[in-house]
Amino acid sequence: MFLQHKNIVLGVTGGIAAYKSADLVRRLKDQGANIRVVMTTSAQAFITPLTLQAVSGNPVSDSLLDPQAEAAMGHIELAKWADLIVIAPATANTIAKLTAGMADDLLSTICLATSAPIAIAPAMNQQMWHAQATQDNMQVLSKRGVAVWGPGAGEQACGDIGLGRMLEPMQIMEHCLHYFNSINAADTLQGQQWLITAGPTREAIDPVRYISNHSSGKMGYAIAQAAQKAGADVTIISGPVNVATPKNCQRIDVQSALEMHQHALKLAKDVDVFIACAAVADYRVAAISEQKIKKSNDSMSLELIKNPDIVADVAALTAKPFTVGFAAETQDVEHYAKGKLQRKNLDMIAANNVATAGQGFNSDDNALTVFWLNGSKVLPLTNKTELAKQLVATINDRMQDDT
Ligand code: C5P
Repeated sequence: MFLQHKNIVLGVTGGIAAYKSADLVRRLKDQGANIRVVMTTSAQAFITPLTLQAVSGNPVSDSLLDPQAEAAMGHIELAKWADLIVIAPATANTIAKLTAGMADDLLSTICLATSAPIAIAPAMNQQMWHAQATQDNMQVLSKRGVAVWGPGAGEQACGDIGLGRMLEPMQIMEHCLHYFNSINAADTLQGQQWLITAGPTREAIDPVRYISNHSSGKMGYAIAQAAQKAGADVTIISGPVNVATPKNCQRIDVQSALEMHQHALKLAKDVDVFIACAAVADYRVAAISEQKIKKSNDSMSLELIKNPDIVADVAALTAKPFTVGFAAETQDVEHYAKGKLQRKNLDMIAANNVATAGQGFNSDDNALTVFWLNGSKVLPLTNKTELAKQLVATINDRMQDDT
């Protein structure tokens, strides 16, 4: 019963996925949450208020202009009652209304009138999801701090295949659990030092050329921000990226794996947590040319030598911090991730499938499965800011369990 005494307003809007709302209510109630359902008019074409009243055990609110309902629990009261507002499914129309700050029905009014956090689980046709207007709206909402859960990809009610499916009720329930966990994590990292590697490394070939990869650094920076917000002192050792340094985090800029290794090993013995999020080049050029290499033959060879494994070297320190690695895999994710966990002597490894479109490298979204010696946890697809909060909360939980 992880949601005991939590008040959740569940907004249900008019998409075919609304039929799953009854199941979502049940799952949230199973965890002890108090649920008040607010429906839009079009949602009622897909599922009746009576069904949601029966499963939630509370009257369903659907009108701003119903004096009787307002007398019982009015829109301002509902807005104040909520610890969290979850809109699932959230249609393109509702997303647009939230973005514009409209208040022309009960749900949009409550969203404007609340100080509670809002989470949305988008559900719509893949073309509507990809439409520039929807994507622009999503950016605005994310910037405002609205949590975005999903959408998932797959076959859609209309027969299309792609992004836009509402996450399953179980996944949305898990997001709610993570959300409340991460709230509990606020300030719990006070006094802790966290060190995070992020971004790619650049391995010079000559003064103008290098070998590198597509890592954007977004995930590492999002983790740094989440840890800092939870109270930790955070240092990022960063390869070259185009991401702003999160507020109140220290940043050390490096180019090569050797430089990153040198800084990491110097600092890691004095920190509580080390997270290796960087996509470190496995090899570097054996002999970097001092002058620009001239074009001559039809082919040329570069001799590459192995770079040190930064996270494995940190994990081998006598005063080892809680050490977390990442595993970006294209197949057999669990098998390879668990192999790395053991081989590198890590406390935890966060694995993601980089072969899945729309997540991982260079994307704004990601999903992770986190493994440790005797357990694992799925952190479902969401934006990297939200995912980072959940990862930080998971690391904190594991550290508590280990002590
Ligand atoms: O072995 P692999 O490169 O797949 O392992 C990935 C994990 O190891 C990531 O956490 C990455 O940051 C870390 N790593 C490292 N130094 C290397 C190579 C990888 O810290 N030279």
